Amino acid sequence: MIFRNLKIGDLCFRFEQLDSTMNFCRQLAELNFPEGTVVIAEEQTAGRGTKGRSWHSAPGKGLYVSFLLKPEPKYLNYLPLLAGLAAREAVNLLADLDLRLKWPNDLVFEGKKLGGILCEGVSSGEKTAVIVGIGLNVNHQPEDFPAEISGLATSLAMILGRNQEKELLFDFLGKSLELWYNKLEKGQVSEIIQTFRKHLSFSPGQKLVIEETCGKRLEGFFVDLNQKGGIVLKIGREQKVYYSSEIIKIFS
Ligand code: BTN
Repeated sequence: MIFRNLKIGDLCFRFEQLDSTMNFCRQLAELNFPEGTVVIAEEQTAGRGTKGRSWHSAPGKGLYVSFLLKPEPKYLNYLPLLAGLAAREAVNLLADLDLRLKWPNDLVFEGKKLGGILCEGVSSGEKTAVIVGIGLNVNHQPEDFPAEISGLATSLAMILGRNQEKELLFDFLGKSLELWYNKLEKGQVSEIIQTFRKHLSFSPGQKLVIEETCGKRLEGFFVDLNQKGGIVLKIGREQKVYYSSEIIKIFS
């Protein structure tokens, strides 16, 4: 079998302002732009997050970027995890911080959200394309966040006490994503799961509340991540696996 090594960022579209990098990247996917194409904006007027929420994108403060990828369909589940790992690693190259991954989409520091991942599918040509959107709070101060999330969010500048070089972080992010994506395409899923597990924001036995896509909430005890990237919970006497769900609460 021949493996290709994908290069990310050979084609990069930069904007001062966009509604959302997801939208522009989607248009590129529909026009069959190559895998690895990147879209980055200094400001988003309609940035979006998971579950139909908006992603407030303070001008010039954060990293707002979308990557166009065309993975094999069997690897689709892994993309949010992989993007989380890449974002964590990119931040770590900038500053040695104990960032945690809140399965499946969030990057957290001491319980506060530092970044989020949004993956959206697009059917383009012969292969499914996925837009992997990553938002990182870099040079935000508390007043740069909307009041309703201000107590829940943090930024690198707030943690480290000084502004950080966004361009360098963007560079690290592309390189890190490229590295993890190439592992995925070679089928090295166990390494992805193992590394994600190591940096999870909760531990086996910890009680969690999750919300399924249908809106149903469930309480259970965290057991593990399975090899497909799903979360395994012990609910009563049974063990159940959940995929596209969100963690609402982590009990200490
Ligand atoms: C979340 O945690 O809810 C996911 C947030 C994803 C935000 C990024 S910023 C770049 C890209 N463009 C968007 O509109 N959203 C993603």
